[in-house]
Amino acid sequence: MSGAQGKASMVCECVGIIAEVDEQAVKKRFKQGWVQEVISDLDKLIQRVRIAKQKKKPLQLHIMGKEEKKNRKRGKVFFFGSFYLFIYFLNVNVVDLWEKLAGLDDMLVELGSDQTSLHNPFNGGYYPVGYSLEEAQKLMMNDPKQFKIAVEKSLQRQVKAINKLVSRGMRFWDYGNCFLLESSRAGADVMNPDNNKLFRYPSYVQDIMGDIFSLGFGPFRWVCTSGKESDLAKSDVIAEKVLRDLRKKEKEIRVQGQLDDNIFWIHSAMQNKLVVGSQARILYAHAMGRVNIAVALNEAIARGHISGPIVLSRDHHDVSGTDSPFRETSNIYDGSAFCADMAVQNFAGDAFRGATWIALHNGGGVGWGEVINGGFGLVLDGTKEARKRAEEMLYWDVNNGIARRAWSGNENAQLMITRVMNENQKVKVTMPNSVTKSILDKACNNHSRL
Ligand SMILES: NC(=O)c1ccc[n+]([C@@H]2O[C@H](COP(=O)([O-])OP(=O)(O)OC[C@H]3O[C@@H](n4cnc5c(N)ncnc54)[C@H](O)[C@@H]3O)[C@@H](O)[C@H]2O)c1
Repeated sequence: MSGAQGKASMVCECVGIIAEVDEQAVKKRFKQGWVQEVISDLDKLIQRVRIAKQKKKPLQLHIMGKEEKKNRKRGKVFFFGSFYLFIYFLNVNVVDLWEKLAGLDDMLVELGSDQTSLHNPFNGGYYPVGYSLEEAQKLMMNDPKQFKIAVEKSLQRQVKAINKLVSRGMRFWDYGNCFLLESSRAGADVMNPDNNKLFRYPSYVQDIMGDIFSLGFGPFRWVCTSGKESDLAKSDVIAEKVLRDLRKKEKEIRVQGQLDDNIFWIHSAMQNKLVVGSQARILYAHAMGRVNIAVALNEAIARGHISGPIVLSRDHHDVSGTDSPFRETSNIYDGSAFCADMAVQNFAGDAFRGATWIALHNGGGVGWGEVINGGFGLVLDGTKEARKRAEEMLYWDVNNGIARRAWSGNENAQLMITRVMNENQKVKVTMPNSVTKSILDKACNNHSRL
């Protein structure tokens, strides 16, 4: 998998264990510094994790550059130095790891998820247990039917081990890679025993991230086209200041919490060394945050403080850009999660409000046919026109999704869209009328009597 999970373990100060069957992928991530250790023996791994959990202190002191040490002394860096270990577990199928953990007397894992590429299960996204990588690839090429059976059996075993650990207290969630959907198709025991139309486990969107898309917070991004690290560092400082200014004025506790988390993130972003290619940043921000950051970046470009244009964008996995009942819209409960209207409107609306380019596509994250995505790119070049486009387009890009979420009955979205209507008289969104359950039950009973 990508290196993000290893880094996330470090940022959150926890022990992260990541299984990876492909040796080349492991070597690359290790070389790039996304993981601290590579262990290829299951028993040694277990020992290592036990020690880490007992000691609750850093197993390896690393990546602490001069600047970080200085900042730490000033009390500015608040996450280094307690307890972190992130290990790549080489040449082992993740099913072997889950089964090993489930067979132990002690509980070593509190949180678990899966990030194999299950949006593409039978073409190399998931390698079945019992085969080396090379054997699995040969089987996939020479006998796709047998490969499919092997993947299905592997998922059944994986889910069995996960269920056992969950019954003993682990918390498991779907990462947004189609794990639950593909496991259910494979006949694994992932359906909710009380309602066989629902999965046993939630999607991480509502369970781990919380209902933040409805508050407008999502992965806003920018790329410094100069390719200079110094420009990225300046953009971080600008973005942090914008969020801090908004935080000072913010009265709503739900929004305050999101701003605090993202100030924490952007403050430490440079120290976490997250860049491997383009000088780019992701920062979760709401509509006002995105607009204000864009305006401030545009001004910095105009003044020459930032040396070249910046391209703004966002992930498809966001407030408005994606209709995906298994992920981004999974917390929409009025039945409309299966419609593609939000992403399509978003794509068209962004085009009219000044996006430099737009995209309407299919398959992001959870796989082809399961999702529609609308996306954009917007170039900031320091001009007045760029400022206008950013103000109009970003405002729409977020609030379109909030309006649609509000209509489906979501309280966070209703709070935010009411705010938008109060601050901007031109915005008019029809608010839904809620029906209490007793009235609905009565209506259903009357209907069934008829
Ligand atoms: N929730 C999100 O925001 C989000 C973000 C990015 C990606 N995703 C989804 O997560 C999935 C993975 O994304 P990625 O970019 O890390 O993909 P990737 O293909 O780079 O990584 C998946 C890794 O899993 C390994 N693998 C496959 N089967 C395995 C097994 N049985 N045991 C051990 N290792 C195995 C592969 O060798 C590969 O390196 C995709 O489905 C993607 O759509 C979700």
